[in-house]
Order: sequence, then C-alpha cells, then structure tokens
Amino acid sequence: MSDGGVVMHEVRGRTMLITINRPEKRNALDRQVRSAFLEAIAAARANDAVRAIVVTGAGDKAFVAGADIGEFEGRTTVEQWRVMKGATIFDAVERCPTPVIAAVNGYCLGGGMELALSCDIRLASASARFGQPEVNLGIIPGGGGTQRLPRIVGLGAALKMILTGEMIGADEALRLGLVDEVLEPAALLDRALALAETIASKSPVAVAAAKEATRAALNLPLDDGLKLETALFQLCFASDDRAEGVRAFLEKRAAQFTGK
Ligand code: COA
Repeated sequence: MSDGGVVMHEVRGRTMLITINRPEKRNALDRQVRSAFLEAIAAARANDAVRAIVVTGAGDKAFVAGADIGEFEGRTTVEQWRVMKGATIFDAVERCPTPVIAAVNGYCLGGGMELALSCDIRLASASARFGQPEVNLGIIPGGGGTQRLPRIVGLGAALKMILTGEMIGADEALRLGLVDEVLEPAALLDRALALAETIASKSPVAVAAAKEATRAALNLPLDDGLKLETALFQLCFASDDRAEGVRAFLEKRAAQFTGK
C-alpha cells in the first residue's frame, strides 16, 4: 500500500485501487502525478494477485480536471512533444492486460476524460461532469480524445463535445454510452470494487485475452480481428484455467483459476 503521495495505490482483495490524490488542484495531471500513476500501473502488472484495477480521484469534487494547465506556461513545443512522445498514462491503461475500471467521482475533463476513455469500463457518480475543454485554451485533446471519444460515443457526439468544449452531466454521458452506469456518489466506489471483484474471480488468462481481442475490434479489419480472436481463443484453450473452468462446471463447483 502507498500512502499520502499524489497517487495512492492499495490492494483490496484481488483489486488494486489507484487514487489520484491532488484534490486541492482537482487532481490535475502534472509530471509527478503522471509518473506516479505509471508506477502504480506497473506495480499492478507486476503483482499476479492483482486481477482488476479501479481508478478514482481523491475528494468529492474531481476525478481528474485535466492536464495541469500551469505546466503549459513557459513550456516549449519541443518539451511538450517529448512529454507526449514518452510513455503515456493513456496507453499504459489501454495496454494493461488487467482490466481497468474508472470510478468517475466529479469533474472529468481534458486529460481526465482521456484517462477515463482509456479505461475498459466507466462508472460515474450522479454529480460527475465530463468535457473536452481544450479549445478554450487554444489546443486540442492530446491524450487520445479525438480518436477514442468518437469510437465510444460516435462522431457527432464527439465533435459536439470537442468543438464546443462544453461539459455534460452523468445522465447525458449515460445516454451517449460514454459511461456504463450512474450511481449515487456514496455508492460509486463500492460498485466499482464489486465489479472489479467479479472480473477478478474469472480466469486472468481469459480476461486478458478477452480485453485484447475486444479492443482490437476497433483497430483491425474484420478478417484480421477474427484471426486474432481465433489465436487468442487457442491460447485460452491450452491454459490450465480452461481445464479447471470446464472441470469445475462439470463437477458443479466454483472454479479456482490460477492464471496459468
Ligand atoms: N490544471 C491546473 N490547475 C487546476 C486545473 C488544471 N487542469 N483544474 C483546476 N485547477 C486548480 C485551480 O487553478 C485552483 O487552484 P488554486 O486554488 O491554486 O487557485 C484549484 O484547482 C481549484 O480550482 P477551482 O477552479 O477553484 O475549482 P472549481 O471547483 O470552482 O472548478 C473546474 C473546477 C475543474 C471546473 C475548474 O478548475 C476548471 O475549469 N479547470 C480547468 C479544466 C480544464 O480546462 N482542463 C483541461 C486542461 S487541457
């Protein structure tokens, strides 16, 4: 368990809870947060006991209110380019074989929205507010927003958010398919952890393969995607988890998956 830093992480059951902890700055992503977040994801990946991840923001105001705007001041284009070319929190989440659930508990703006878009499942508190306000600053989304948002909500809804910079509430986000569930603020984290624990109870081999195959659907032509699905199916079929899962079903007992 890590405590008190700008990104805290702790293992609860088989789930790692990652909390971005800069509430006085609405959990804005500065260099320190980004680097600590990458370390937290690496820690989850390195720990076989962690089978799901929940990401949330500290406090009751924000999930993440975007990139730290203060860091833009005085930064050269080349410096900014280096930041964006390096390992990003968005790719780290998307490529993490362990599923990542966003528990969006307040403002979810700019890079915060892009972080949520990179997650596999998004839950929102009824008070959450979503937006891509970059045009207000004379920039565009740079953490994947122009690419991932239209893939999730469709081109029209994505353009409306990105071109106007206006925020939408949790109910509108649910209507658009931007979030998967809306909960009362007090119930959000418990629901996210329960969902994570459901995923954690499945075969980690199958879950990782399912994430990779399903995400590939948006990147690959159908024939290539179907080939990848078949290859990953075969990988699962050869696993101890498949043998255990099938045996447990036939013996009418709960499966004990080992991830092998
Ligand atoms: N970067 C840096 N600091 C930020 C920030 C960001 N993205 N978002 C909020 N903060 C800081 C504020 O500057 C303020 O700092 P201060 O107390 O030292 O003055 C503190 O967080 C609280 O913000 P405040 O605006 O007073 O809170 P609020 O609850 O009234 O409003 C927001 C919250 C998120 C609506 C508002 O802060 C905002 O619009 N932030 C910028 C969002 C944005 O454009 N993100 C995209 C960046 S590319």
